[in-house]
Formats: sequence, C-alpha cells, structure tokens
Amino acid sequence: MQLEYDLAGPGATDLFESLRAFGYDLPTAIADVLDNSLTAGAKNIWIDLTWAGRNSRVTIRDDGRGMSETKLVEAMRPGSTSPVEDRDPNDLGRFGLGMKTASISQCRCLTVMTREVDSALAVRRWDLDYLSQVRSGEWRLLKGRSLLKPEDQKLLDRENSGTVLFWDRLDTLVGDVDEDNDVVQRHFRERAEAVRDHLAMVFHRYLRGRHSVKIHLNGRPVEPWDPFLEDSGLSEALPSETLGVGSERFEVKGFILPHHSRISAEAHASAAGYNGWNAHQGFYIYRNRRLLVAGDWLGLGMQKEEHFKLARIRIDLPNSTDLSWQIDVKKSQAHPPAALRKDLRRIARAARSRASSIYRHRGKLIQRTLGDGGAFLWKHLTKHGKTFYKINRDHPLVATVLAEAEDKKPIRALMSLIEQTVPAPLIVVNNAEAPDSLAQPFEGASAELRSAMEAVFAALVSSGRSPLEAGEELIRMEPFDAYPEIVAAFVEQSMEMRRSNAGRAAE
Ligand SMILES: Nc1ncnc2c1ncn2[C@@H]1O[C@H](COP(=O)(O)OP(=O)(O)O)[C@@H](O)[C@H]1O
Ligand SMILES: [Mg+2]
Repeated sequence: MQLEYDLAGPGATDLFESLRAFGYDLPTAIADVLDNSLTAGAKNIWIDLTWAGRNSRVTIRDDGRGMSETKLVEAMRPGSTSPVEDRDPNDLGRFGLGMKTASISQCRCLTVMTREVDSALAVRRWDLDYLSQVRSGEWRLLKGRSLLKPEDQKLLDRENSGTVLFWDRLDTLVGDVDEDNDVVQRHFRERAEAVRDHLAMVFHRYLRGRHSVKIHLNGRPVEPWDPFLEDSGLSEALPSETLGVGSERFEVKGFILPHHSRISAEAHASAAGYNGWNAHQGFYIYRNRRLLVAGDWLGLGMQKEEHFKLARIRIDLPNSTDLSWQIDVKKSQAHPPAALRKDLRRIARAARSRASSIYRHRGKLIQRTLGDGGAFLWKHLTKHGKTFYKINRDHPLVATVLAEAEDKKPIRALMSLIEQTVPAPLIVVNNAEAPDSLAQPFEGASAELRSAMEAVFAALVSSGRSPLEAGEELIRMEPFDAYPEIVAAFVEQSMEMRRSNAGRAAE
C-alpha cells in the first residue's frame, strides 16, 4: 500500500528559539562545550569572555583533534548523533545536541572554526537573526572563512589541530548595551568568575594528575576544586562498594570531610564550595570523571541538614549507564535506577550518621581518646532530656583560678551566671541561618590567643606537670589544638626561656 504523508519538519528559527529555553546558564553551557574539547583529546582549552558592550564575545578554543569539513557540517546539525547509539567509553557527549543548544542558549550567532592535522580550515555558522529573515524556514548553515575577521582566522595557526567556537550577540548575558554600561559590565565579570568556579568543580579530576588538561579562563588557569579534600589526607574515606544492575557496574565511595577545627579557616571556606557547605552535601555523580551532580540526596527521602554537611559520597558512572540513570541533555541531572535505591539509601545512612557524629560529638570523641577530663572548658550535660552547658571545674585554668582566689564566692557566682545565660538558642538560630559564619576561636586575635595559652600553660605547670608535659597537653587541648604550629612555637620558646633562666641561676 502506498502511504500518504505531509512534510512536517520544524522551521529552523522556531526550533532554535525553543532549544534556547533548555535551561542552560553561562557556566553549564560552557561546561557542555568543554566536554566536546575533552572528548576530542584537547590538552589545552582557552576561554575568553571579552567585554565590548553589545559586541561582547565568548571564545572557546581547544587544541584537540578538530574536524574535517564534512564532519563539521554533520556536527552543526541539531541531533547529529542519536542518544541510543553506543559511544566510545571516553566520550562525554550523548545527545548530539550540546554544542548547538548550549551555544544558542547564550548567543544568537554561533561560529565554529576547526582544523584537522594537515587539513584546511573549515568554518560554519548558525545565525539566528539571519535565519529569521529566511521566509522558507530553511536550515541555512552559513559557510566560508570570510565570515570571520582575518585575526580570528589566525587563532588556530599555532596548533596542529583544534577547534574554536565564537559566541556573538550574547543577548541573555549582555543584550543591546553600550560598552560603557558599568552595571552590565560588572555583571559580565561576575559571571566570568561563576564560570571559573563551575569549571573548577565539574572538571576537577581532569585538571589534576598525569594526563591533566589545562583550562585557561581570561588568561588565568582554572584550579581544581576537589569536593572530597582527598589531597589533604584529613577526610575520612569510607570503604568503597561496587554496585550495579545487570551488566552495568559502578563504584560508590563515601567521604567524611574534616571537622572545621581540623583545617584552616581558608581551607574550610574553600571546601564549602560554590553554594556553601549545606548545599554541597550528598551524592556526587561523575560520568567519565566529569561531575554531573554536585551534592544531592537523589530523592532518597533524605533532607539536607546542617549536621550532615560533612558527608559527601562519590558515584563513578561509565557513559554506558546514561539511559538507566536518566542523564539529561544539560548533564546536570541524574536519577538512580529503582533497583539501586535500597543500596544507595543504606550507604547514605551510614555516611550521614558518621558525618553527624563528627559534626556533633567531636569534643566527646577526643575526650574519650585522651581519657582526660581537663581538655575542654565546656561540658555538655543532659538531664531528663534537657541539655546544659557547664564550665569544666577540672579545666587547669579554672582549677587554678579557684584554688588561688582568696574569696571563691564571686568567682563561683560568675561561672554559674555564665552557665545559666549561655545564649544557646541564639547560637543555634544564627548557625542555621548562616552556617559557617561563626568565627573560629581566636580568629584574628593572636595576642589574645597567646595570653590565654600562657595562662593555661602556667596553670598546668603550677599543678605539677613538667613544662614538656604541659606543652603536650596544651597542644591537644581545645581550642589550642586548632593552632598546632603556634602552640609548638610557644612551648619551645618557653622551654628555651626556662633553660636559659636555669642556666643563669646556676652560674
Ligand atoms: N571541540 C571539538 N573538537 C572536535 N569535535 C567536536 C568538537 N565539538 C564538537 N565536535 C563534534 O561535534 C559533535 C556534536 O557535538 P555535540 O552537539 O556537543 O553533541 P555530542 O557531544 O552529544 O555528540 C561531536 O560528537 C563531535 O564529533
Ligand atoms: Mg557535546
């Protein structure tokens, strides 16, 4: 039987205009383009966001394999590769859409210039404003080197091969404004920094190690941001597990990040990540070492809460699991297959419980390991389900003050007043509203730190410890344990002083 039909293809402009609304933003769009550069074996990627008002431009250049003229034309076609086709295991692409949709979400004119080794330069352009004037709705892909200025055509001269994307008419990011528009210019610069943060996170495993890749953003290298602080040696690694459905296998590994008192204030702030500590807890999903999801409990019925923030769990997926994990076009979402939810929930629970015990009970844990009642100034007591905070009378400084005072009554009264009025509810509220905003003990107050240290040291010595013992105790004592170098220097200095005093006395 002869089938009847109408031709009902989409009009070029209409489809492009709809594809713009995929929900990319500047950082995710650039990351998607970088996936192609990495798949093409690039060792260097140069991204330039050049401000020039309405003529501002984003240029993304790589020294990867490049494309032949035929391949470029194919690559410019929306849906150039079907998502159900098997891909090379190292391919970061999937839908055959990224380069077009990501670019067009940010600009109205995408030009791609590329060159394979020992081949001629090929140039193609999608220009939305040109297409909108084409009445027939034809998919007219503009071609020819002359689309680009002579200096732009030279951009690949120094590489053996490579590809450059030019994004012009950045209507979402810049719009139709003059070059001296300070407000928009500032926004433009801020977005460039957001791009830096995003790339540092998404590609951190490509930016480090033997076969690492360099990403240069406006002339400055992008430094990797590792959510697990693996290099610090301070994160606790939970045992890794291999899970899978059918023949698909992948690895899951939990990390408990160090309590903030164990790392410097800068390291703590930088480990927080782009959206802050609370937001970045949960599962991190990587596809071929490229980060897709940066902290999420994956709809497993668990909430993000302050006391779980130290739990970060890495999932390493190969690109063959794309369909079962429902990887989306923007590569910003992934959903675990139903059959895995039980295992993932179990792993999440274990990590969360360990994280919350580190977060909450660090003090208790240390106390237990030291077997020493004097290391903490504050004691946390519970009675009939109520919590109390009491000043530790065994703390060396408290004990000395009480022992040396002629009239102990006002001191006892003062301590009891402090204990009864600790603004605990206020602290809880502040911490929940602005996590990590609490200052560290003696943050920016080194003179006060020093005199507190002197006083406690003296108290320890006067209670019968040798200076060496006192020094060792001091280094394990809160809050001095957060400043091991300063304490060590102080102890050394006081021992030195004692030695020379003793020497003088003997002369
Ligand atoms: N920088 C590049 N270097 C070499 N080839 C590229 C580059 N960017 C895109 N391509 C080619 O264009 C094709 C289409 O890219 P894209 O639209 O992002 O879809 P996908 O990455 O899903 O295949 C890629 O499969 C690749 O063959
Ligand atoms: Mg791609």
